[in-house]
Amino acid sequence: MNRCSAICLLAFAILTCAACGPVEPPEFQFNAVEQLKQERLFLDDGQHFPDSSRTEVTSILRALFGTPDQSRFPIESTTVVDQNRLEMAAGPVESEIDGTPHGLYREHCAHCHGISGNGAGATAALLNPYPRDFRMGKFKFKSTPLRTPPTDEDLTRILHNGIPGSAMPSFRLLPDEEIAALIDYVKYLSIRGQFERTLLAEISALDGESLFEIEEGEPAPEIDNMSAEEILDAIGPELLDDIVTRWQNADQRVTSVPAAPAAFQIGHSDHSALTTEGRELFFTKGNCTQCHGATASGDGTTVNFDDWTNDWLKTPGVDPYDRDSWKPFTAVGALRPRPVQPRNLNLGVFRGGDGAEDIYRRIANGIEGSPMPASAALSSDEIWALVAYVKSLVYANDLFPRP
Ligand code: HEC
Ligand code: HEC
Repeated sequence: MNRCSAICLLAFAILTCAACGPVEPPEFQFNAVEQLKQERLFLDDGQHFPDSSRTEVTSILRALFGTPDQSRFPIESTTVVDQNRLEMAAGPVESEIDGTPHGLYREHCAHCHGISGNGAGATAALLNPYPRDFRMGKFKFKSTPLRTPPTDEDLTRILHNGIPGSAMPSFRLLPDEEIAALIDYVKYLSIRGQFERTLLAEISALDGESLFEIEEGEPAPEIDNMSAEEILDAIGPELLDDIVTRWQNADQRVTSVPAAPAAFQIGHSDHSALTTEGRELFFTKGNCTQCHGATASGDGTTVNFDDWTNDWLKTPGVDPYDRDSWKPFTAVGALRPRPVQPRNLNLGVFRGGDGAEDIYRRIANGIEGSPMPASAALSSDEIWALVAYVKSLVYANDLFPRP
């Protein structure tokens, strides 16, 4: 080997070693979008909360919920999240000698939903709709009403079926215990994210002061040396309890679906009368044409954004059509605003499932986080008539395809 190639080889070896140096374990990303929103709402233009508030929130969250590699749930007595399942889903992708897997979330979900569950993983910006940001605790396709978390059964269905017409795939091939672990991890990220938002709102209410009551001249508490109970006792245990209890009680909030009228059966002599009634309601009392348009192809006039975007857009008065207005938010992690399209109902693609009961629930409860409203004014018979009409659109288009 001549001297030149020896030097080249050495340089290559040094460079390669530098690239494979110790990898820093990933951290949960701070919700800087929520903090900027709070600053816009409560402070004068260009003012910021002190850095100490961000450090405090990050330390509290780390002490209570751990890290992406060592995730833990701060309330042991609850049945909402199981610690063993968290350990299967958290951390880097690996498995024990007996085959017990770890890192399921990073293996299957993080590239879309992000390590922190912020819906902003590596591929997220390219997808429409964007992957769910779990941190608001809002879910679209569930059996519970608006402002109520989904049940485990709802989340299991999502993982089994995926969400047709979106990038969300089906994970039906995974064993049941892996699905259960992933669901607990979604709940964990969601509760952690909701709690982070609560803390940031509390800090705003305190004008950026500490969440701990610190007497004049006393040092700030050493959060890293405190137990979860001590921290929660000091800042107010109800801040987390309220969120966890809502998840705990979701099973009792499931909307019951009354049996469909006999005329709902295709072939029943009154079926076409029921469909005609549904069509009537679609144009009148149901007000569905406002968004879905007269031909139900989703060309109504309403332009809107989903709640995940509206959250930082609407309250602080950001203009979605003015790049300079939204740029500060995308610079700290928000995905660029994109209007929501009401669904073209002629295509027969139902994201929340195409069963009659699924469509009934979508119309009765609305689709949380999207502009699709709950229809409190409609009776259950009227909702069934609308389901019959929505289903008839699909059959009509199978028989007589639109050009
Ligand atoms: C290829 C991208 C992608 C991957 C991988 C992915 N998702 Fe999703 N996910 C999405 C998109 C996009 C949506 C939003 C669909 C919508 O809003 O209609 C979504 C929505 C969801 C929802 C919300 C359902 C609701 O009712 O609102 C849950 C829960 C979810 N995903 C869990 C997971 C889990 C758990 C994994 C891993 C096992 C995963 N996803 C993997 C793209 C992905
Ligand atoms: C304010 C606008 C608006 C109104 C009014 C509205 N919708 Fe929707 N609808 C939407 C949007 C937006 C979506 C897509 C939501 C998503 O997937 O994020 C949707 C989706 C749907 C879906 C698809 C559900 C699925 O599982 O994919 C059905 C069915 C539906 N709407 C029926 C109706 C009916 C029936 C009415 C009248 C009672 C109605 N909508 C009124 C905006 C609206």
